[in-house]
Amino acid sequence: MQRVTVDGIIRMKGERRKIAVITAYDYTMARICDRAGVDIILVGDSAAMVMLGYRSTTPITMEEMLVFCRAVANAREHAMIVADMPFMSYQVSVEDAVYNACRFIKEAGADAVKVEGGAEVKRTVRAMVDAGIPVMGHIGLKPQTAHLWQGYRVQGRTCMDAARLVGDARAIEEAGAFSIVLEQVTHEAAEAITSMLRIPTIGIGSGPACDGQVLVLHDMLGLYDNSPRFAKRYANMADAVLDALIRYRDDVLGSRFPGEEHTFHMDGHELSRFRAWMDSGKEGGDAG
Ligand code: KIV
Repeated sequence: MQRVTVDGIIRMKGERRKIAVITAYDYTMARICDRAGVDIILVGDSAAMVMLGYRSTTPITMEEMLVFCRAVANAREHAMIVADMPFMSYQVSVEDAVYNACRFIKEAGADAVKVEGGAEVKRTVRAMVDAGIPVMGHIGLKPQTAHLWQGYRVQGRTCMDAARLVGDARAIEEAGAFSIVLEQVTHEAAEAITSMLRIPTIGIGSGPACDGQVLVLHDMLGLYDNSPRFAKRYANMADAVLDALIRYRDDVLGSRFPGEEHTFHMDGHELSRFRAWMDSGKEGGDAG
């Protein structure tokens, strides 16, 4: 299967072909996502919550994100891999941002990076693009800092707020980003931004008008307890895993596992020698 490219993603918008994006953080799940034919695997900093158990995405580090990204890159044959730049990897200076973005490409096998922010990160996005790195923007609800300000609230409910989002989207496109995530933006604002931009919008909780959609893998598989309302659940994997584990524990306690089919044997000749040696009382010495 052919690799998905930046040009390919932009072309999909022109062809009105919707873009399917999913998060993943490890080799095994990324292999399944890739086989399913999704266009982009986002190694999201949502890993902080679903993989590491933090209450927000803020604490995850560059080093942790690099490990998750490397594992996903090792699994990929088809999808584009976008690495989420964690908090503090691009806020302190433009030089830091370019350096850390390069690490995702060079050390972790990513094809592109994602940063949260609108007009305030325009210079940073431009510098990363100038360094040759494709960038995905992310506006609307920005989970890295939302909890420090207004909390996890839907964005673009008022005219003023929707106009601010339009300005942010324009700034990110002008900076050279190849796509932009709209998180928890009202349908009306998302629709206006999508029709205004040349680059594709990828929605999460932002309605059906976006050019593509992204979900957190653990939300859609039913593996995470605190999934948001907008995340459609396609499976209830937590119950399936729990059921399997309870049956495993019961089998071990009831001596039903391992069975004959899971057990290895010595051949008859070696077994006779071994038994004779054990009977000779020399088990402290050489069996030669
Ligand atoms: O970290 C993440 O998974 C994300 C998506 C929710 C867009 O940024």
